[in-house]
Amino acid sequence: MATVVACSDDSADTGPSSTTAPVTTTTEVPALDPPEHPWIVAHRGASGLAPENTVAAFQAAVDLQADLIEIDLHLTSDGELVILHDPSLDRTARGPAEDCTGGIDTRTLAQVVTCDAGTWFNEAHPDRADPAFVDERIPSLDDVLDRFGTDVRWYIETKKLLAGEGMEEALIESLEKAGFTAGAAVSRQLVIQSFDVESVRRVGELRPDLTVSQLLYLGEVADDDRLDEIASYAVGIGPNWVDVDERLIAAAHERCLTVIPYTVDDPAEMARLLDLGVDGIITNRPDLLHPIAIERTHTPPCA
Ligand code: G3P
Ligand code: CA
Repeated sequence: MATVVACSDDSADTGPSSTTAPVTTTTEVPALDPPEHPWIVAHRGASGLAPENTVAAFQAAVDLQADLIEIDLHLTSDGELVILHDPSLDRTARGPAEDCTGGIDTRTLAQVVTCDAGTWFNEAHPDRADPAFVDERIPSLDDVLDRFGTDVRWYIETKKLLAGEGMEEALIESLEKAGFTAGAAVSRQLVIQSFDVESVRRVGELRPDLTVSQLLYLGEVADDDRLDEIASYAVGIGPNWVDVDERLIAAAHERCLTVIPYTVDDPAEMARLLDLGVDGIITNRPDLLHPIAIERTHTPPCA
């Protein structure tokens, strides 16, 4: 976290004085302010261009000026947080079967960090393949926070399909270890989201200063009653983009909820959604969203 030392000059109030020592305060500030345009959220990193949920995809997102980097969290069998989308290793991991296949909850951290997380991408996307991707590994949350620190904004999804108790506590512990200690300023750099209502609520209980958002499944009803409920514990919703219309945006904004849909890679659709009034977009292609988003200004609802 960046730390600035502010020397207050109170001469405007009291006039110059050679006998009054300047008041010096130390204030911790976030490395980044909130974006002033609709948020560009890089889905699993810049995962249209590099293997999802790897350091390569996160670095590409930074290089492409994404505002936030979305990541997915799972717990390993020994209770460590790793960044992986699927509950199973089978789609995106390569390596010894005893370490790199099966449910993530059946493998230890020491096992899964050995797994190659890039070869699948080169095979699936030969047009975007890069031999260097073979060196990508499934990252632990702590390693990624240590590497990127508080110099980026994170959009963190807790995946709860397999996890038992403790994921939210482990997340908060990792964030605080990385320098995201309690405080509204730092918390603006973080969004914690989940499809799991209890997980979103739990994060809010543990750290009320954090920005928490409720993900909605494709086609999930978000009528006024549901939005009222969400507004009681969260500050945003993440609907599937096909469910977004003027009514949803207006109803959410009336309740001070941001609307940041997933996952949009078509520039025409990005522009249409931004024109409708969404507060940001989650995309695999931050390079395509960037020129469309930065020409717009954004004010959060109820700011
Ligand atoms: O950020 C929202 C989006 O990531 C939710 O869907 O399946 O890609 O995690 P999924
Ligand atoms: Ca996700």
